[in-house]
This record gives sequence, C-alpha cells and structure tokens, in this order.
Amino acid sequence: MSNSSTFKAADYEVLLQQIERFFADTANKKAITPSLTPNQLKDQLGLALPEQGESLAKLQTSIQDYLQYAVKTAHPSYFNQLWGGFDPTCFMGDMLTSATNTSMYTHEVAPIATLIEKTLIAKMANLVGFENPEGQFTSGGSNGNLMALAIARQRACPELRKTGLQQGPRLIAFVSADSHYSFAKAAHLLGLGTDNLWKVPVDENGRLQASELQRLVTEAKAQGCKPFFVAGTAGTTVRGAYDPFGAIAAIAQAEDLWFHVDGAWGASVLLSPKHRHLMEGVELADSVVWDAHKMMGMTLMCSMLLVKQRGMMLSTFSADDTGYIFHESEADPIDLGPSTMHCGRRVDAVKLWLTWKHLGDRGWAERIDHYFDLAAHAEAFINGHPNLVMVTQRYSLNVCFQYVPAGADLSQEERNHLTLRIRQNLMESGKAMVNYAQIDGDTFFRLILCNNQSSQDDVTEFLNEVVVEGDRLNRT
Ligand SMILES: Cc1ncc(COP(=O)(O)O)c(C=O)c1O
Repeated sequence: MSNSSTFKAADYEVLLQQIERFFADTANKKAITPSLTPNQLKDQLGLALPEQGESLAKLQTSIQDYLQYAVKTAHPSYFNQLWGGFDPTCFMGDMLTSATNTSMYTHEVAPIATLIEKTLIAKMANLVGFENPEGQFTSGGSNGNLMALAIARQRACPELRKTGLQQGPRLIAFVSADSHYSFAKAAHLLGLGTDNLWKVPVDENGRLQASELQRLVTEAKAQGCKPFFVAGTAGTTVRGAYDPFGAIAAIAQAEDLWFHVDGAWGASVLLSPKHRHLMEGVELADSVVWDAHKMMGMTLMCSMLLVKQRGMMLSTFSADDTGYIFHESEADPIDLGPSTMHCGRRVDAVKLWLTWKHLGDRGWAERIDHYFDLAAHAEAFINGHPNLVMVTQRYSLNVCFQYVPAGADLSQEERNHLTLRIRQNLMESGKAMVNYAQIDGDTFFRLILCNNQSSQDDVTEFLNEVVVEGDRLNRT
C-alpha cells in the first residue's frame, strides 16, 4: 500500500479482501460477538495513539483487529436491534458518499445529492399521503422527533424563538407511555421540560388510548396550560405497535395540536401494499419521521423528517447572518441548509437512492413482506412449542416471548432470570444476539426480524437454540 494521498484502487485491494473475509465469516455464522469484557478487549487492541505515525501497511493489523472484534450485525442470527443485515448497493452508495465527501447544506457543494435527496423526500412523502410536502434527511429518528417538536413549538408560539420560553404559556406535549425516549430528551433540550411531556396511557396491547389523550388535553387546559403537540408511534420500540392515527388526528384537529408520527421503526411498511394498512390515518399527520436505516436495511444513518406543509421547516430553523454560506436568491430556494437544524450534514441519500434504483418499488415490497413472513413463522413456532410463550400481541416484526418450561411452576423472578441467562449464554457462545425488554415486571426476549441475511431456517434454528439453552439451564 502506498503512502501517497492520491487514490489508487490497488491500495484498497487488501482492505476489500479483509472485508470479504469478514462477510464470509458472517455468512458462515462464526462467533457473532467477541464475548470479551471491555477490559479484556482493551488488552487485545493497540488503542494508544502514537507520536510517530505508522505505515499504511501496519494499519492493516489495526483494521484486522477491528474486523475481528466487531459485532457481526449481518450474521443470520443477529436479531438484537431494529436494524441489521447487509445491502451491497447501499455499501456502494456509502463509498460514493465518502469518495465525494461533501455537505448537504448547499446546492453549490452538493448539486446531485441535493436533487437526489429531494427526489427521495418527494417519493416517501407521497407514500405517506402528503400532497405538497417538504422534508429533509436528518441525523436520525431521535433528532427528527426533536425537530418536529421544535416546528410545533414555532407554530404554536412563533415569538418564543426570540423571547425564550420564560415569556410564553406553559406548553404541553403528549406522547404515549410506550413512545421512544427521544421525546423526553427533546423536551429537555428544547427547554420545554420533561414535566411538560405528558405520557398518555396505552391499552393492553401498547397502543395509545385516544380517550385518555382527550382527557389529558382537557386537564392541561383546565390547568391553564397550552397543549401544542401530540405524537403517535408507527411501530413502538418494544412491541412494534401502531397507534390509532385517525383517532389521534381527530383530537389534534379539534384541539389545534401539531400531530407528529414517529415512524422511525415502522413507517417502512408503507412500501408494502400488503402491510401498509397498519399506517392508516398517517396522511392526517403534520409530520412523520422515517428511518431507512431500520426496516429498509440501509447503513446507519439514513433517516428523514417529512412535513405536510411547506415552509414550516424554514420558518423554524432559519437563522440570521448566514450570507457567507447561503448565497441563493430567496425567490428560488434550493439549498437545504436553511431549513434544518444541521449545518454540515453527510450525504445519506445516495445509498438509499442507489438501492431503490436496484430494488424498485417491488423489491422493497418483497423485502418487507419477507420480514412479516419471518415474524409470522416465529410466532407460529412459539405458539406451537410447549416451552415458549408469546407475551404481547404481535403487530409487526417485534416478536416478544419468554421461555417457560412446560409444567414448571416458576415465579416471575425465576422466569426473568432465565431469560437473561439464556440471552447471555447465546451471546457468549457466539451463536445469536437477541435483545430483551420489560413490561409490567416481565423480562422477555424482543426478537426483531429485519435482517435480510436471515431465512426461515435461521429463525427456527435460533428458537431451537433458545429452547435447548433454556432446558439445559432449567435442569441445572
Ligand atoms: C420508535 C422509535 N423512534 C425513534 C428512534 C430513534 O431512532 P434513531 O436511532 O434513528 O435516532 C427509535 C430507535 O430505536 C425508535 O424505536
């Protein structure tokens, strides 16, 4: 490998071969994770930064170490997070983004990427059902939720951006008890205060209860507060539930609330004619967050905020004294930068655009439908097995279950303990990664089926492993 900063494809051959071996190990189900404590891992790696720089050839050792100890998130038994798998066209797009390193803030420095991003925003907003929308890619669903809250605050009290919250009414935002924690962070960071983020109770299946939302809005008004925002979730983080968007929209309209849908996890079902009914009513929302790095399998990050009414983003995020960067005429705005909270922003659109060109609308539908088939298979297997039980209703790709040995009279604490031990042992043996969650004191597996490398056989094998490990622990 040469030390020159000129690009030569040959310099990357070794790296590409290393990556190829990494993916071969991944496909062959080599240990999914290194199973080392942080200190053991630290001892294996040359982490210290040298005074004298090392040759590029020597860096190959560091690269090899990185790959050796990386978690194999495209392993067919990786079910741990709301993302995973590997997509070659996405990978190519990622390389293009790095090779042409630029920032999304102006058309001047990112002409093609700006047009590509606008094409994707139009396409995805159209799938939502927005007629004349705007939107942008953001650095993740959490920040998209924060931006939606900021837009709603701007709409409710435009003067607050100047005077600060001290001058305004007590603003109240509503989310469901099962909503993502990013709303609490956003309430804190925007100065609204987490006490003013009211959690609406959910029903027994984890869906926001519209009647409870109405009760809380009325209560907030009775206390002299100003309700201004409500969020529904499309695919909750733990149960994968979809809130009743139509009923929430009706309240939002009557009470003059901004209605946001957090579709970070679940908005991708819009790509499937078979499953898009889960999103019924989403077109009534004012804004939607959609993570393409989750169910669509793009590399992190690839997320967008879609807004129904044009102009809201600019009125919220524009700033003064930006003439040194934004030179365009106001009559014909094309720069994305003034309408977002970001300044420099990576090109995340090109990988999605390339993948979409490759898969087409049909390919996406097939991918989403395949995940639903895997989830249905897992649910059927669990329901048919004497030692496995579903613990929540399955709405989408989250399969929440426990190992409970038939005939054994285990306490909740013992069942919870067993779940954690099984999970840990599967991880330490390198066989599989699956996460856990808790509801009402029950600890259970949250199996997520959104890995394009997993087949039905892989899911069966994983569930059998859970049973084998559970039976073994139960005997000891
Ligand atoms: C429902 C929901 N909203 C938002 C987020 C946050 O998304 P991101 O990781 O892109 O910030 C998550 C993450 O899992 C989520 O499940």
